[in-house]
Amino acid sequence: QPTVEDIETLIAPFLALEGPLLPILHALQEEYGHIPAQAHVPVAEALNISRAELHGVISFYHDFRDKPAGRHVLKLCRAEACQSVGGAELAAETLARLGLDWHGTTPDGALTVEPVYCLGLCACAPAAMLDNRVVARVDAAKLDRLLAEARA
Ligand code: FES
Repeated sequence: QPTVEDIETLIAPFLALEGPLLPILHALQEEYGHIPAQAHVPVAEALNISRAELHGVISFYHDFRDKPAGRHVLKLCRAEACQSVGGAELAAETLARLGLDWHGTTPDGALTVEPVYCLGLCACAPAAMLDNRVVARVDAAKLDRLLAEARA
């Protein structure tokens, strides 16, 4: 668990930037894998914003997590092109099979499922990303393989 001093040290180099909030949040997530609750007060104070504002920003951007992810992260595209060619059904099935909601992690800590809004693969939709690997034209069989790989 990071201390307030850890957080202050990490955010200090960003304070001189124009618009430091997003770079700070990215740096925190990079360091800790999520935005630790302990960071809220020091960040809000350093930037002179309220904790409500900070919370609003963290929840607005789908990339930020408020708790650690599983060992693997599966992102399923929820933007229009993917939704229109079966992405919505595929996502619903996947979540149901895993017994998860968006942003949920399997009880064994192996896999977190998150939404993503366009992976730039609209021409080969539906698209997904397992960790840093993008996968095009996802169907039930491909998804099965991804899930098996992630949970191996
Ligand atoms: Fe899914 Fe663009 S809409 S990749």
